[in-house]
Amino acid sequence: MPRITYEGTAYECGAGETVLDCLTAWGIDIPSSCRSGVCQSCLMRAPGGGVPQAAQAGLKPTLVAQGYFKACSCTPTEDLSVALPDAAGLRLAAEVVSIEPLNPDIVAVRLRPARPLDYRAGQFIRLFRDAQQSRCYSLASVPQLEDVLEIHVRQVPGGQVSSWVHQELRAGDSVQIADSAGQCFYVPGQPEQPLLLLGTGSGLAPLYGIVRDALHQGHRGPVWLYHGSPTPAGFYRAAELRALTQTHPNFRYVPCLSEGDTPAGLRRGTVLEAALADQTDFTSWRVFLCGHPDMVSQGKLQIFLAGAASAEIHADPFLPSVSPAAAPA
Ligand SMILES: Cc1cc2nc3c(=O)[nH]c(=O)nc-3n(C[C@H](O)[C@H](O)[C@H](O)COP(=O)(O)OP(=O)(O)OC[C@H]3O[C@@H](n4cnc5c(N)ncnc54)[C@H](O)[C@@H]3O)c2cc1C
Ligand code: FES
Repeated sequence: MPRITYEGTAYECGAGETVLDCLTAWGIDIPSSCRSGVCQSCLMRAPGGGVPQAAQAGLKPTLVAQGYFKACSCTPTEDLSVALPDAAGLRLAAEVVSIEPLNPDIVAVRLRPARPLDYRAGQFIRLFRDAQQSRCYSLASVPQLEDVLEIHVRQVPGGQVSSWVHQELRAGDSVQIADSAGQCFYVPGQPEQPLLLLGTGSGLAPLYGIVRDALHQGHRGPVWLYHGSPTPAGFYRAAELRALTQTHPNFRYVPCLSEGDTPAGLRRGTVLEAALADQTDFTSWRVFLCGHPDMVSQGKLQIFLAGAASAEIHADPFLPSVSPAAAPA
């Protein structure tokens, strides 16, 4: 069995056990959130190497070069010596510029980082409530269009970080964020390729960034955005998106109401139902799916079955954090 050395003590790692599971089982407090390789909350370093490639999937090359890896995705095959990252190296201070309600549950938080952040619209940052607790929030801002970062935070009932954002955070406060990550962003080079964007709730945040980025970069192919909500009050940034349809005839915005009577201007049904009713063949489309994990997983499957190549389907399920007690063994 491989042994994991942490702060001078070696711990036996069970067969198939991840570094995160092993160390937390020994009572060591390692920050984590999604426990499924998405959020990068569990970054650790293995200065001597020996980390399986899968544990570094999706990390920036600069992080890979420094031996960073995701502890929740690292099932060691050999002895490893690991350390928590130097917080100062990975985190960045940011000032809260404004907090603005977007709908009854979601606020837009604008942040000015202490140094410019190298990011693409649609990627996510981590926002820290304190030294241990951080959550991922997708970037709705576009670096070429805005000089502040914008995230959309939905209040999750009883949620530790989203409640703090909604109830305690104020303009002028200083917070810590971690660098941008994620593969959900517009890549120029195929300006005629049709783009399909499906999002529910605050899943609009990355899509709002991606759409504006694509149109700003001169994307000429169809750009179809479907935003889903169970209530009419849940739609936000609708006026801005409708204005974009006027200036960009290739852009279509479809707000989809999944429950109740449907007022004029809204589509009845889920985003997936609406998109598949409008188009049955998504061969050669690039697809972005963000928001509720069930919508994202169903969407990946159904849009793939409707012809989209899996390499063209980019998804950010807004996975909740998992407490160690609830995490799979
Ligand atoms: C890549 C990525 C991008 C994300 N982008 C955004 C974004 O742009 N905007 C945004 O608002 N959120 C986003 N999220 C979700 C966000 O990171 C947090 O999970 C969310 O804000 C809840 O955190 P919390 O600390 O308030 O709740 P927690 O204290 O972590 O959870 C409290 C309770 O609520 C449950 N819970 C947590 N989240 C949900 C949920 N979504 N639905 C139902 N129950 C839940 C938990 O299981 C727990 O029981 C993203 C997540 C990921 C992985
Ligand atoms: S990537 Fe490991 S906890 Fe999210």
